[in-house]
Amino acid sequence: MTLAERARRVIPGGVNSGQRSIPGLTDLVITRTAGSRFWDGDGREFTDYHAAFGPPLLGHNDPDVAAAVADASGRLGLTGVAVTEGEVLLAEQLAELIPSIEQVLLTSTGSEATFHALRLARAVTGRRLVVKFQGCYHGWHDAVSLNVISAPDRVGRHDPTSTGILSEVLDATLVLRFNDPAALRQVFAEHGRDIAAVIVEPVPHNVGALLPTEEFLRALREECTAAGSVLVFDEVITGFRHALGGYQAISGVTPDLTTLGKAIANGAPIGALGGRADLMQYFSSRPGGPVFFAGTYNGHPLPVAAALATVRKLREQPVHEHVFRLGDRVRGELTALYERMGVPAVVTGYGSVFVSYFMPGPAPLSYDDLLANDTALFVGYRRHLVEHGIFELPLNLKRSHLSYAHTDADVDRLLEATEAAVRRTLAEGGPSDLTHTSTMGGAATTTGAR
Ligand SMILES: Cc1ncc(COP(=O)(O)O)c(C=O)c1O
Repeated sequence: MTLAERARRVIPGGVNSGQRSIPGLTDLVITRTAGSRFWDGDGREFTDYHAAFGPPLLGHNDPDVAAAVADASGRLGLTGVAVTEGEVLLAEQLAELIPSIEQVLLTSTGSEATFHALRLARAVTGRRLVVKFQGCYHGWHDAVSLNVISAPDRVGRHDPTSTGILSEVLDATLVLRFNDPAALRQVFAEHGRDIAAVIVEPVPHNVGALLPTEEFLRALREECTAAGSVLVFDEVITGFRHALGGYQAISGVTPDLTTLGKAIANGAPIGALGGRADLMQYFSSRPGGPVFFAGTYNGHPLPVAAALATVRKLREQPVHEHVFRLGDRVRGELTALYERMGVPAVVTGYGSVFVSYFMPGPAPLSYDDLLANDTALFVGYRRHLVEHGIFELPLNLKRSHLSYAHTDADVDRLLEATEAAVRRTLAEGGPSDLTHTSTMGGAATTTGAR
C-alpha cells in the first residue's frame, strides 16, 4: 500500500487541511523542501509557486531562520508562565514596524488572531454585527466561514463554507462587495449602530488579487470611525509579504486592529493580533481584562525565534526588492505571452503575488468580476504545469507566490511551461471534470451535515 493510501485509511481524505487533497494529485506525498523547490516520493522536483498558501517569503528552509530555530530549540522550551526575551523583542519590532500596532499578542495561527479580533470588537462595542466582503477568507471559525469562492448563484446571499454553523452566527455577519464604497455607506446608514467590526483583507488574495481602490479603503476608515466600529485589517497574507509595515503602510490607511500570520515567521506556526493599546488592554492577558485570551503554544520560543530571524533578514537584505522585481517581470511577460497567443487574460497581483485570470480586462475590482474567469482553463493549465515540474495550485482563483529563493532562471522556465500548458489545455478543450476545484463554499445553510 502506498503512503497516500495509508494516509487515507487513518486521516480523513488523507491530508490535514481542506484544499490539500487536490483532484488529480491525490497520490502526491511530499518528502523534501529547499529554497524554491519541493520533491515528492517518486523523486520528482517541483518549482513551488504555491508556497503553502504564502508563508515562505524567504524560500523553504531558509538557513538563517533554520539556524535561529535550532539555536532556540537547544536553549529554551515552552514553560507556559511569564514571558521570554524573544516575545518582547518580537512585540517591539511589530509595534515599531506596523502603523496600527501599539500592543500585540501572539497566537499560533491566523484564524486565532481573527477570532480574537472579532471577539474583542464585540466586547468593546457591545454590538452584534460583523461585516466581511465576498471573496475574503479570514480563517475557519464560524463568524467568517462564509462567502469566499462562491458559485455564481450563491453570491449576494450567505454561502457558508461548512455545515454545522448556527444560523444565528451566520445572520450576525453581513457580506458586502469589495471595492464598493456606496454599498458600505448604505449598510452603515442602516445598521451602523449595530456594527461591531469590519474585517477585510486589504488586498483580497484568497481569490487571487483584487487591488483596493484608495476611495474604498478611505471609506472603510471613515465609516468605522463615524460609527464607532472597529476596523480590522486582516494582513495574514499581506503582512511582511508586501511590506514590513503591511499593506496599511503602503495605503496610508490605518486600521484599529491588525491580524498577522504566514510570512512573519517564514513558515513557522505563528499568528499575531495587534492594534490600539486602549483596545488591546481589554484582553485577559492583563489580569482583570474582560476578554478571555489564551493558548498553550502562544509565544512558543521556536516560532518566535523564526519570526525574529525573518524580520532581521527582511530588514537587512533586499528581499522585497528581489521579489517585487521578479513579480513585475512575471506579470509583464505573462501579459505579453497571452497577448501573443490571442488568449483573453488579465495578469494581476502585487509584489511577489501573481495570478492569471482567463477573462477580458480590465483588472477585476470585486468577486463579481471574477465570475467571468474561465475556470476550466485556469485549473486545466495548472494541472499541465505540474507535468512540467511547476507547481501552481490547480484550484480555481488561487494565487501564486515568488520568494527570495526564486531566480530569473525559474521565471524563464515558468514562462515557457505556461505557454506549453495553456496551448495544450486549449487544444484539449479544458478538463471535463472540475469537481472539487472551482468553489469554496456551497454548504447547506441549515446546521446539519447530512
Ligand atoms: C487572509 C487570511 N486570514 C486568515 C487566515 C487563517 O490563517 P490560518 O490558516 O493560519 O489559521 C488565512 C489563511 O489562509 C488568510 O489567508
